[in-house]
Amino acid sequence: MCGIVGYLGKQKAVPILLTSLQRESYRGYDSAGLVVFESGQTVCLKAVGKLEKLEHKINGHQRLTGGLGLGHVRWATHGGVSEANAHPHTDCRENIWLVHNGIIENYAELKEILKKEGHIFRSETDTEVLSHLIEKFFQGNLEEAVRKALRLVRGAYALAIVSREDPDKIVLARLSSPLLIGISDRGEYLVASDANALIPHAKKVVNMDDNEIAVLTRHDLLVLKEKQPENLELEAEDAQKKGYPHFMLKEIMEQSDTVENAIRGRLLVNHGAAQLGGLESVKEKLREIEMINIVACGTAFHAGMVGEYMLEEYAGIPTNVDLASEFRYRKPILDGKAAILAISQSGETADTLAALKEAKRKGALSLGIVNVVGSSLSRETAAGVYNRAGAEIGVASTKAFTSQLTILALLTLYLGRQRDLSVVMGQRVTKELKLLPDLVKRVLTLDSQIKKLVEKYKDYDDFLYIGRKYNYPIALEGALKLKEISYVHAEGYGAGEMKHGTLALIDENFPTMVIAPTDSVYEKTVSNIEEIKARKGPIIAIATEGNEAIKNLVQDVIYVPKTLEMLTPVLSVIPLQLFAYHMGVVRGCDVDKPRNLAKSVTVE
Ligand code: F6R
Repeated sequence: MCGIVGYLGKQKAVPILLTSLQRESYRGYDSAGLVVFESGQTVCLKAVGKLEKLEHKINGHQRLTGGLGLGHVRWATHGGVSEANAHPHTDCRENIWLVHNGIIENYAELKEILKKEGHIFRSETDTEVLSHLIEKFFQGNLEEAVRKALRLVRGAYALAIVSREDPDKIVLARLSSPLLIGISDRGEYLVASDANALIPHAKKVVNMDDNEIAVLTRHDLLVLKEKQPENLELEAEDAQKKGYPHFMLKEIMEQSDTVENAIRGRLLVNHGAAQLGGLESVKEKLREIEMINIVACGTAFHAGMVGEYMLEEYAGIPTNVDLASEFRYRKPILDGKAAILAISQSGETADTLAALKEAKRKGALSLGIVNVVGSSLSRETAAGVYNRAGAEIGVASTKAFTSQLTILALLTLYLGRQRDLSVVMGQRVTKELKLLPDLVKRVLTLDSQIKKLVEKYKDYDDFLYIGRKYNYPIALEGALKLKEISYVHAEGYGAGEMKHGTLALIDENFPTMVIAPTDSVYEKTVSNIEEIKARKGPIIAIATEGNEAIKNLVQDVIYVPKTLEMLTPVLSVIPLQLFAYHMGVVRGCDVDKPRNLAKSVTVE
């Protein structure tokens, strides 16, 4: 949450900061601000609302030519949405200026002490204590003051700090929130929370580690632990909409390619197996694993739930899946025979990271399924598999989800073939996996049918989503997508659980989306359809092509192609993503940046 950017070089900082902020605007969009050093003076501009509001202010301002600056997009945690609470924050003398991503947990006690010492606060944020704390220790050398101040701080931070009295320098610090330094061909430095914000200027990147402090000057980059810059491997196109009206639609439509990318080079069709280079180093340890604990949040958690069914059914490994935010605070029983598998698109989700660290501490083997290369999770795990899904910019996770499901199927094959999964059964899975990208392509052609369906259902205020077994998590995911994108109330439920309470909601004003592929639990799901029908609830079914009979039971059917039961979620979720997308658009919502949310939840 929150995006920070910085620039130090010979060009004007403002346009570069704005481009970088634009690329990070998915991280927070309730206010934005920047500070630029302008011939010995500091100019700080802030605006409530999206980045355009700040751009508007900048346009109305004097020409800003300084070559050093910091910028920020905010997702409010402490203190409401206001200019005073927007970053950058400063100290009493307006010497120290900083932008922050994370949470300072002991801010209240620090604030009390600083207030008693005479510091005057201008905002309600946790961040502002940092500027005053650094002021307290500042004696002409910024990095020294930062180092002393951070010793007193508890929490998470990615920080970029500048000082009027120690000029031409940006000091950076990181603990549990991502922070990257980009270096251009011309020796300019850029700072960002996300590698996407470094393109198109930077060619090399330094990914800061926890507890590091870095000092950028006009001549040098000093990280207080020697590090070699790596090549920045991101395509500029990744962050463009490519003609689509929204990133979300673009990313939904990319899913045939992203599923293909997840599989490419990883299937051994003849052997009915998978090869996963990222697991090679722990291959032998994986043979010994007797239990897998999956931890994740939100959409990634739903992928983990599908993974639980896959791993137990095909690999025969007892598997638990937990919300990372719960796992980290309970007392999981783990030992050297347990593996922890963290699933995360961003690789920066604070709860998932903390859950992983807790399990590592207990001796579990740490594994990850992560999309963002070089992210904190990818560096924290002993081994893992990258999604290769490309940048996901829309706040709602779509292509990362189907990619996670695909990788989980590959992982199941990999672990299954180390155990009792027969070559014949393995071959069935590999063959079906190979067909999957083409089947996804077919499902994506349903877009116009779903858009029409949304016209029919757009005025309903409540929806129920139900499914069983592999598609129970898909019911949860479909409901989550609808809630976050269109702000329509939706409940995701196990179809078999309905009669234990939820059925009471059903009447002619409460439609149900039933995920009912022709699978091992189809007949059970049909019974649930009958129960809803008897109570006059409108029903939309996601069914398998060829199932004509279901038309007699429900109002509307969306057909998806047949595939192996364990892979049905990859196909059944896509119509639900499209349904949520079109509902959001038709109801006038900002689908790429839903209210109150932001991508990459780096706070607890
Ligand atoms: C919902 C969504 C979130 C994320 C969750 C975890 O559409 O995007 O629920 O799935 O915040 O994020 P990652 O996968 O980055 O750990």
